[in-house]
Amino acid sequence: MIPTLAILISGNGSNLQAILDAVASGQLDARIAVVVSNRKDAFGLVRAERAGIPTRYHALKPYRDRGQERTDYDADLAALLAEYAPDWVVLAGWMHIFSHEFLRHFPNRIVNLHPALPGQFPGAHAIADAFAAYHRGEIDHTGIMVHLVPDERVDEGPVLATQTVPILTDDTEETLAARIHAAEHALLVETLREMTR
Ligand code: GAR
Repeated sequence: MIPTLAILISGNGSNLQAILDAVASGQLDARIAVVVSNRKDAFGLVRAERAGIPTRYHALKPYRDRGQERTDYDADLAALLAEYAPDWVVLAGWMHIFSHEFLRHFPNRIVNLHPALPGQFPGAHAIADAFAAYHRGEIDHTGIMVHLVPDERVDEGPVLATQTVPILTDDTEETLAARIHAAEHALLVETLREMTR
């Protein structure tokens, strides 16, 4: 059976695009069942639609406005995904943290991509944080990782793959980000290939 992926995004979706391209070219033998965004204006939704992949928008704000709990949001997202019966849930730039109410539905089946090495710069600003740390003389390289998401810790969990990324003396944050993203596109596809083999 061809493995089924649900891909969760919050923004540009360049890593989603790398997966779409890898599937289209036959490099990755998988089916993308759905792309979910928590942001309506995420460009990744356009990328998915262009590729003919079903998309869903699952926003947190209506839950907050109704006074509902984060766990309600998470339970509904899990139910939404269950409609597509994914073998793997891939967090490709998904900027929400999950509660146990989501995680318990997909044990050992949630994969997160993060633009830093294990234990370094968790959160939404890892590249900026690494760039600042470089200029304080604290690091001379950074990196990327793909890991499983077993619990509520942010950007932590059993590591599936890592790669170091050099920081060059004439880097701007933008040139460093571009190098990191290029490395991510390759590593994420390669890791998914290994996992779905
Ligand atoms: C990627 O750099 C990914 O590693 C990061 O969001 C970016 C999404 O880019 N994820 C995190 O920071 C998770 N904490 P994309 O939308 O172009 O794929």
